[in-house]
Amino acid sequence: MTRETAILPQAIPTRAIKPQTIKYVVKPLVFASALMPLAWVAWTAVASGLGPTGPLGANPIEYINRFLGDWAIRFLLLALAVTPVRGITSWTFLIRFRRMIGLFAFFYACMHLSSYIVLDQFFDWTEIWKDITKRNYITVGMVNFVLLASLAATSTNGMIKRLGAKRWTKLHKLIYVIGIAACLHFYMMRKGVQLEPIIYAGICAVLLAYRVAAHLKKKARAGRAENPDRAGAGAAHR
Ligand code: HEM
Repeated sequence: MTRETAILPQAIPTRAIKPQTIKYVVKPLVFASALMPLAWVAWTAVASGLGPTGPLGANPIEYINRFLGDWAIRFLLLALAVTPVRGITSWTFLIRFRRMIGLFAFFYACMHLSSYIVLDQFFDWTEIWKDITKRNYITVGMVNFVLLASLAATSTNGMIKRLGAKRWTKLHKLIYVIGIAACLHFYMMRKGVQLEPIIYAGICAVLLAYRVAAHLKKKARAGRAENPDRAGAGAAHR
């Protein structure tokens, strides 16, 4: 083994996993696994009848709402993790799961919003409007939901074609803002300084910092390619 291969992570080329296996085995498995949290909370809620002494705690409605919010932010961060993990490991096949994971983030955000409207507020639209306009963390959550919905609505191949790859890519950079806003919503919702939202924000910061570093590296490489003389002179000075 050379020194380089000992240091670099072992790449799994896409060809190692057949596209048919991804489509008919791995993707359905990921899909089914992503539905498990919802299935568990729905089953537990129905089985316990939302009673205050059941497995969902003294306030089952709050538990359900928070549980669904947690899964929305987890899928968001997972979607944001695809590019860095692919870059570090060279597991190129991961990109084939990014859309599905992002759509699950939206799905859980829809469930989280629905549980708030149906279970928490009992469709009291006046109260909901008051909450959206007066409670800052709910304002942030709602704006974030609308942004995420715009990405979900434009996630199809047809929409990529209609918008054009360049405009589509630009629009989907909104995922960075959505990740930050989701962490802010979580932090603001918990009163005082709490560890859990800080951990999520830290993970989000690392995932975004990877992109900044990759961008700066690419820019520096492009600069050197444009100006090989200066790059050579710089190297001579070092
Ligand atoms: C991208 C969209 C959203 C994400 C990722 C998200 C995520 C979260 C997270 C992680 C929590 C904290 C859960 C915990 O304490 O463990 C939370 C709480 C909460 N969210 Fe969201 N949220 C989003 C949108 C919304 C929207 C649109 C609303 C309502 C209009 C909303 C209302 C709430 C409420 C009321 C709570 C606190 C529940 C309580 O007091 O126990 N969220 N959300």
